[in-house]
Amino acid sequence: MDFLDILTKKRNGIKLTKQEIDFFITGVTNGTIPDYQISAFLMAVYFQSLDEEETAYMTLAMANSGETLNLCSISGFKVDKHSTGGVADTTTLILAPLVASVGIPVIKMSGRGLGFSGGTIDKLESIPHFNVEVSQQQALQWAKQSNIVIMGQSKNLTPADKILYALRDVTATVESIPLIASSIMSKKIAAGADGIVLDVKCGNGAFMKTLENAQKLGKCMASMGHHVGKKVTVVISSMSQPLGNYIGNRLEVIEAIETLKGNISGDLLTVSLTLGANMLLLSGKVSTEQKGKELLLQNIQNGKGLEKFKQLLQQQSADTNIIHDYNLLALSPCKLLLKANASGYIYAVDTDCIGMASQQTGAGRKQKTDAIDFGAGIILKKRIGDVVEKGEILAEVYSSSEQKCQSAVLLLQNAIHISNIAPDTSPLILDIISM
Ligand code: URA
Repeated sequence: MDFLDILTKKRNGIKLTKQEIDFFITGVTNGTIPDYQISAFLMAVYFQSLDEEETAYMTLAMANSGETLNLCSISGFKVDKHSTGGVADTTTLILAPLVASVGIPVIKMSGRGLGFSGGTIDKLESIPHFNVEVSQQQALQWAKQSNIVIMGQSKNLTPADKILYALRDVTATVESIPLIASSIMSKKIAAGADGIVLDVKCGNGAFMKTLENAQKLGKCMASMGHHVGKKVTVVISSMSQPLGNYIGNRLEVIEAIETLKGNISGDLLTVSLTLGANMLLLSGKVSTEQKGKELLLQNIQNGKGLEKFKQLLQQQSADTNIIHDYNLLALSPCKLLLKANASGYIYAVDTDCIGMASQQTGAGRKQKTDAIDFGAGIILKKRIGDVVEKGEILAEVYSSSEQKCQSAVLLLQNAIHISNIAPDTSPLILDIISM
């Protein structure tokens, strides 16, 4: 097979065969197709797209391009979860222990963050001594004992995706629905769960800015799951403001613990319960989403979810005292306050811009190799629809230097819009797609 023929076919909008797609992914993985041809192929896909069958072939080939996790030795239905990424999106740290606490195994491989959306692994690494480098053998042993493991992606999981994603990033081809779907689903399939709940974020702080595009991506991923025999539910949730009020690694860990203690309700809890309940529904543990939410809420009230989180900390060598002593999760030393420059309603927020402000504090990476300041970030004091008085505190900003705090405050000032008109209330859960 000659890759130039495959490239020409896709450029001309002709459907590729399974053999041609397998040839492409093998060539990407073993380095026999040069970057310039891969990049040209990605651009051809960006314009000509891939149909459902081609996307399924690509997903499977990528899933099998490296190591896969075999969870067969864990009894019961294993369920995974993935978010397409947003700001203050800490749902994994809340729902993983809750779902595990009702007896459903959660063995989750997570990633580090790039750009303004934080990665679960960064948040866990912000907890002193938390070990995310877990071997497959160790993960299986822990999952049998505790029903919960959260670990970094093994280095050889979906190597084809790593190469393709790096090239998409620098060739303006990230925003292609079949490429996003195959990238996400290949990793989930390689991670071995029987069922997957996908949280597709939609709004001004997400990849998918419109509900129409979020639905297209959601349907594409659900159909990929269906093709490979996995149960998939897609929840489309709003990212028109940060999901929680705490943005930054240690801050998000604190907000997750407070939620598990039952001290915080609101959008973060609602989305966590919706995703968690759909995980229980997929596993057959409950017959309706409502019953799932009640079961999870019950395990917040009786402390079982928090106890499971403590077990996760203990198992992965972290200091369990953080649960009761937040001094052990020290924040960065410089603090600045953002105050309202007018009275009125919080009318809208530019979520992207809040994410960038958090990145300015040092809480996120600009480049893959950047170090993260675990104690940096932002606490938002107001949400859309809240009434504020001029001079009232809108946000607290934490960073290692006054200068970084100031640049974050400047971004925040432009990101939070105050008006004397009350905003319309918009739904948080925009759609749920099951296949
Ligand atoms: N997340 C992924 O893992 N891949 C994409 O392409 C986009 C978001």
